Amino acid sequence: MRILSGIQPSGTLHIGNYFGAIKRIIESQDQGDLFAFVASYHALTTVKEKELLEKNIFEAVVNFLALGMDPEKSTFWVQSDVKEVLELYWILSNHTSMGLLERAHSYKDKVAKGIVASHGLFSYPVLMAADILLYDSNLVPVGKDQIQHVEMTRDIANSFNHHYNTDIFVLPEAKVDETVATVPGTDGAKMSKSYGNTIDMFGTKKGIKKQVMGIVTDSKELDEPKDYENCNIYKLCELFMNEQELKDLQGRYATPGEGYGHFKLTLLDKINEHFAPYQERREHLLNNPKEVKEILEFGASKARKIANAKMDKIRSIVGL
Ligand code: TYM
Repeated sequence: MRILSGIQPSGTLHIGNYFGAIKRIIESQDQGDLFAFVASYHALTTVKEKELLEKNIFEAVVNFLALGMDPEKSTFWVQSDVKEVLELYWILSNHTSMGLLERAHSYKDKVAKGIVASHGLFSYPVLMAADILLYDSNLVPVGKDQIQHVEMTRDIANSFNHHYNTDIFVLPEAKVDETVATVPGTDGAKMSKSYGNTIDMFGTKKGIKKQVMGIVTDSKELDEPKDYENCNIYKLCELFMNEQELKDLQGRYATPGEGYGHFKLTLLDKINEHFAPYQERREHLLNNPKEVKEILEFGASKARKIANAKMDKIRSIVGL
């Protein structure tokens, strides 16, 4: 069973990326043959400054490794280190209708948010299909917003297989965990870099505190009972707490004298506590870029071997 997923290094990674994808990707190392990569080519659709892109790629890699990505057990690389994916992207482009791409929610949302409607942004799902199909992926663990892209990948694969009368491409399935399919941000909408409602995974203590303190609540007074079911703080606490802790918290919502400021501090402690065990390894890697580079070279060489063999077959099928 091959499991594959990627994350764009388009900014500081947030707890939506963590619960929706990274944590599940890392856990899937025990469930199958994991292929995971930092989607550097995809990030070019939004990150246009050289230094920023370099920094984001490095930090995303370091975070993955610090959180438990095992480069021996799994195959872990930076997307742009295996260039075969661009060749497949072009071949697949010729089996992708304009209509299919025009229906992509993610493209429409991004343009609505003011991101320039470039050809790269428009054809983003074809590159994602190339990522998935190049490595014969069966399962793709992602958040809810990416389900449509995996469905488009199946459409593209089907269309290619049918046209050339082959079964060269494996049809992948999205694997979404319903409990964290859409992690809410500090304003209750989907947590997203482009909404400015994120809580960072590894931000500074001060920075994370500022984000948590900015969570939007209603204006109930300290002595009024509060409704945990419709509270953004509680929804985020659900990610970090076990059943007993949540029961205790529900009790506090009903207790006069307990206010949103207190609940925010409880959440803040939980966030800091959750990520603390990974900080030491993270610091080590941040200070040892040579070690990180070697790990990535090793990962890219493993991925490239598979990509090369697959591309040889694909070229021969299409007549190249
Ligand atoms: P990206 O970087 O936008 O998102 C990375 C992953 O995080 C999930 N995610 C969320 N999950 C729950 N709640 C949220 N608020 C939230 N915000 C983000 C996303 O669903 C995603 O799983 N196109 C992919 C990157 C990619 C890829 C691939 C993934 C490129 N090639 C091949 C799988 C297979 C993306 O949007 O990443």
